[in-house]
Amino acid sequence: MQTKRKQDISPITELKKRLTEVSHMSSILRLLGWDQNIYMPKKGDDLRSASASHLSGIIHRMFINIDSDGLLTKLKKQVDDKKIKGKDAIVVEETWRSFERERKLPEDFVKELVEVTSKAQGVWAEARKKNDFALFLPWLTKIVNLKRKEAELVGFLESPYDALIDFNEPGMTTSEASKILVDLKDFLVPFIQNNKSFKKKINTAKVFGKFPISKQIAFNEMVIAKIGFDMEAGRLDVTTHPFAEGLHPHDVRLATRYRENDILYSLSSTIHEAGHGIYEQGLPVEHFGNPLGESISLGIHESQSRMWENIIGKSKSFWKHFYPELQKEFPIPFKKLSLDNFLEIINKVEHSFIRTEADEVTYNLHIILRFEIEKDLIEGKIEPKDLPKIWKEKVKEYFGIDVPTDTLGVLQDVHWSAGLFGYFPTYTFGNLYSAQFFAKMKKDISDIEKQISKGKFGEINKWLRKNIHSHGKTYKAGELVKKVTGEDLNSSYFIEYLKKKYK
Ligand code: CO
Repeated sequence: MQTKRKQDISPITELKKRLTEVSHMSSILRLLGWDQNIYMPKKGDDLRSASASHLSGIIHRMFINIDSDGLLTKLKKQVDDKKIKGKDAIVVEETWRSFERERKLPEDFVKELVEVTSKAQGVWAEARKKNDFALFLPWLTKIVNLKRKEAELVGFLESPYDALIDFNEPGMTTSEASKILVDLKDFLVPFIQNNKSFKKKINTAKVFGKFPISKQIAFNEMVIAKIGFDMEAGRLDVTTHPFAEGLHPHDVRLATRYRENDILYSLSSTIHEAGHGIYEQGLPVEHFGNPLGESISLGIHESQSRMWENIIGKSKSFWKHFYPELQKEFPIPFKKLSLDNFLEIINKVEHSFIRTEADEVTYNLHIILRFEIEKDLIEGKIEPKDLPKIWKEKVKEYFGIDVPTDTLGVLQDVHWSAGLFGYFPTYTFGNLYSAQFFAKMKKDISDIEKQISKGKFGEINKWLRKNIHSHGKTYKAGELVKKVTGEDLNSSYFIEYLKKKYK
């Protein structure tokens, strides 16, 4: 009988062990961020920023130290020489990708970025509340300069924005993104302007009422549990900017926001975040800590949330099941409102100021606008001080409306204050992926609409798990979409979906 001695641990197993140690630390950092959002008293901001910054530094060092004895370099060479193949090769390659990037960013730089963005988020929140762009400007300027520096440090081929978009959507370049987004813009602008049904007056106030928050929370939790979010491996809390944070497949934190007079305001955000959460819960737990247990990209992540929020969650089939429950729980106002009228309201298309409240048609124009601005910012073609003016001009051009305040304009999103550049376009990629995946799912599950209308989501989740979640980072986003659908990512499925739904 053979016994394995401890020192016989293989190099690849040793690498996974070290990566798992780093992941444990990252989970703690995420938990600190979650707490800052959910529970922490306001005055704790400075301390928490400092704590988070210190911990980030430690994690950065731990990660770099993975190769302190040359372990990763040695493994990388074996992969290059084809001595390691298959899943183990992916673990090495993906770790190497992150390692190369991290190594290029000095610890002082990482710490500064964390500290600045952590503080800037507080300033941004205040500036948004007071409609005071000047208050936020010095911080935004600092962050833009840091991100420009980050791009220089990481390196890029054509545009410094490449370095930032590649971080969020590995393999994507600025020029590819531009092409996809311009194609979509060329479709959207005339589609929105020429579609008469979008001009129809719809009284959206019919869905308003008085919905006690505690009852809303219960309803939200019921819906996400039913569609497949495991409430024993996650929770749902209250925040101002909804998010999903996966600490581990068995501990996924969702947060949503509430308005007392509008239950749909929380519900659509909650379903969106639950889509992210179901993905996090579906990642293979046996690979926790290494790339095989991680999500592929922000775009793929967003495809999961968007599919649940829009393609499924705003469909007639979905509400055939849930509307009677909504009517039962909140007879005022829903008892007297027909399902068709309700669907017309939740799918209303209009030109609005706020991205997060936008419908699925105009939403992508909000993204395209942000993409154009942040790309120009990082490339140095425009400066932060010009943003309110540029913002207003673009909204006028794309939506035909005048932005009344910066609160409803350039100050509305948290992203830039958090240093998230190259992030916005992944939202639209998510929409495109989701339509492309769903078209294939429809072929594979022939009675999908019927199942949804009966409140049965098991087959859908099985499909998502098998085709997307369980792979972790085994495939790059572009490879996965090709493997699953047989085609490269393209906007045609999303465009077809919109044409069919809004004809
Ligand atoms: Co999302």
